Amino acid sequence: MTRKIQIFDTTLRDGEQSPGASMNTEEKLVVARELLRLNVDVIEAGFPISSPGDFESVRRIAELAGDQATVCALTRAVEKDIDSAADALKYAKRPRIHTGIGVSPSHLQDKLRITEEECLKRTAHCVSYAKQFVEDVQFYAEDAGRSDYDFLVRVIQTAIDNGATVVNIPDTTGYSLPEEFGRRIKYLMDNVNGIENVTVAVHCHNDLGMATALAMEGVKNGATQIECTINGLGERAGNTAMEEVVMAIRMHEQELDAHTDVNTREFLKASRLVSSITGMNVQANKAIVGANAFAHSSGIHQDGVLKKRDTYEIIDPADVGAGQSQIVLTARSGHAALKHRLEELGYELDGEALDQVYGAFLDLADKKKEVYDEDLESLVNERDRNENAIYMLEGVQISCGFPLTPTATVTLRNQADQVVTACEFGTGPIDAMCKAVDKIVQVDNDLTEYAVQSVTRGIDALGEVTIRVTDPSGSIYTGRGADGDIVVSSTKAYLNALNRLLNDKKEHRR
Ligand code: KIV
Ligand code: ZN
Repeated sequence: MTRKIQIFDTTLRDGEQSPGASMNTEEKLVVARELLRLNVDVIEAGFPISSPGDFESVRRIAELAGDQATVCALTRAVEKDIDSAADALKYAKRPRIHTGIGVSPSHLQDKLRITEEECLKRTAHCVSYAKQFVEDVQFYAEDAGRSDYDFLVRVIQTAIDNGATVVNIPDTTGYSLPEEFGRRIKYLMDNVNGIENVTVAVHCHNDLGMATALAMEGVKNGATQIECTINGLGERAGNTAMEEVVMAIRMHEQELDAHTDVNTREFLKASRLVSSITGMNVQANKAIVGANAFAHSSGIHQDGVLKKRDTYEIIDPADVGAGQSQIVLTARSGHAALKHRLEELGYELDGEALDQVYGAFLDLADKKKEVYDEDLESLVNERDRNENAIYMLEGVQISCGFPLTPTATVTLRNQADQVVTACEFGTGPIDAMCKAVDKIVQVDNDLTEYAVQSVTRGIDALGEVTIRVTDPSGSIYTGRGADGDIVVSSTKAYLNALNRLLNDKKEHRR
């Protein structure tokens, strides 16, 4: 039997730190359910001290996971962070506190302004303090990738001596070359006493596009836990992508002496779900889950694949949930058929929620006859986006064309059930719509990105719009909206971004 490599998912913590990728608690629960279907070993659910929303997300995900996965909460090496994490994890069946401190010269001298001795003292204290609350304590040595080898040995030794069950070696800045990072892991394996009795984790960022390679070198040299995210989401250029490392391990199980227990058939669904919720689109040529990952365009390649798939395809698309036969629903499909298909797609909806999605499904089926899985996912996500909305769209009308001046009339309903209409001109229909919405919502922001893509093939496909806005403090909010009419999708997406911005301000005022 090969070594089991634990998959530690941090989409809901490091992934959420991607600018514009923030998720509310309900959205995090939807992602957490998908992580459970993927059968990951650990879910890092958030950083509880950072906001009431993060605290609540960790608490609810801990309840949801039961004993199916370990639920982990992040802290700095600070007592109040650890108190908050322990509180959020109170009802978890398998709680883990993830605490740690910066260890590179840059972090010690310029960020923390402490000596190496002080860093060792804080390491010992944060681990032993967390240990009062939970048995499973993971220690991270931030910026380990740029640290001094022997100092790193002393830090990791201190963490283990004080009871750490997992030691996490991050390449926080994505600086290392893979071989060098592997050497660093090997040096720890050879020089830290008792390291063979704990789990060694790697957490690699993608600043040089090498996060997957770094994680694989870690595994080759003794690591048995990989920290990763769906679609490689994460700070700056992101993190190791779960789908990439898991499939690389699967392809090379014997030579790596490694396997994971991840249900890889969920990858495509998980990728679409996270992309739809966060508004972070997946590039077409992304490994494993990109739209072109299994597309063959040159004649020579097509000829080869038709003769035998593995001439140009190393992975069977079905193994990652791609290319499966589509079930198509139509306006004749009833409630039960819709519920059944949604359940197969991983959504559990009942009562009012199911009625709302069914209503939207019938409207769509009337317009485009055949409704695909991607359409259904889009309809469910559209409903979720409207939960907690401060402003709801009641109507939008545009007049534009040549030689007209584009004009938009927008009607919104607020949480006090007041209905307000505004009319504005603009340089184009989207500009006019945004100005009309701004007149009602009145929140300072800059629209920094606008993109539209079709959810499925065909001229009658739903158009999904992604909009990013930046508030005066520089925070980025992403909104999404889907409809057969892209002006309506755009209005929904803009409102979704503004609702997120307003909800975030409300949460920080609490
Ligand atoms: O990149 C990093 O070092 C981190 C730690 C908090 C694990 O995200
Ligand atoms: Zn990180």
